[in-house]
Amino acid sequence: MNLKGKNAIVTGGGRGLGKAVALLLAKEGVNIGITGRNEENLKATVAELKAIGVKASYAIFSMDEESAVQKGIADLAKDLSGVDILINNAGIGDFGSIEEMPTETWEQVIKTNLFGVYYAAKAVYPFLKEKGAGDIVNVASTAGLKGGPNMSAYAASKAAVVSLSQSMMAEWRKQNIRVITLTPSTIASDMSIQGGLTDGNPDTVLQPEDFAEWVRDILKMNRRALIANGSIFSTNP
Ligand SMILES: NC(=O)c1ccc[n+]([C@@H]2O[C@H](COP(=O)([O-])OP(=O)(O)OC[C@H]3O[C@@H](n4cnc5c(N)ncnc54)[C@H](OP(=O)(O)O)[C@@H]3O)[C@@H](O)[C@H]2O)c1
Repeated sequence: MNLKGKNAIVTGGGRGLGKAVALLLAKEGVNIGITGRNEENLKATVAELKAIGVKASYAIFSMDEESAVQKGIADLAKDLSGVDILINNAGIGDFGSIEEMPTETWEQVIKTNLFGVYYAAKAVYPFLKEKGAGDIVNVASTAGLKGGPNMSAYAASKAAVVSLSQSMMAEWRKQNIRVITLTPSTIASDMSIQGGLTDGNPDTVLQPEDFAEWVRDILKMNRRALIANGSIFSTNP
């Protein structure tokens, strides 16, 4: 499918996986709205997107506040003149033992990763419903398929995203909306390198560009085809 002229919102599009997806979709001719909290990153990324030759704009909001998410998404939809694609990517990775992680930190991970995905999808859905088509890519994690030590908040948030996303898929496919649940393994980014999950060695470890190519190829499939779930791993990290 040709993506040229479509409009996509990428949450967390100022760095990491989100930025890589935003840049690659822009190369396909997709107009891009990115979101995040760090204005400097958002501005710099919008400049890169515009240099590729597409419409680009940003909105600043925190994923854990529904009214702010709604306003930010509505502003971007106005700037771009509609929305066809949501890359529901923003998230945080806070790691630590159940005993030691403060309850507030645990709650914040759930609020950002789970509620944020819910708020953004709910805000975008009316635009897709009205068009009678669209795509939502929810970024979960392999951590959402199996918990482990020191990741209770992150794994629980991502397991809930998997379940939420499957419910969205079941509800919205009847309106020709493809909801895609992705569960990537470790990819080199601020989150994984600062979290001590990988050294990010580009010879062996997945890079944001690999993730972006995967997302682009899934979106380019004929609209009759829906990749409902998928994982990606480094071959031999
Ligand atoms: N890297 C991996 O190994 C890996 C593996 C599996 C899944 N994932 C998932 O992939 C997604 C992207 O991760 P990444 O590796 O690119 O992480 P990253 O480099 O740490 O980037 C996180 C992004 O999310 C945004 N964000 C975080 N908290 C936010 C909040 N409260 N409100 C608004 N925006 C917020 C950040 O924007 P600001 O800085 O502007 O706030 C940033 O753009 C996450 O959902 C992550 O869980 C990553």
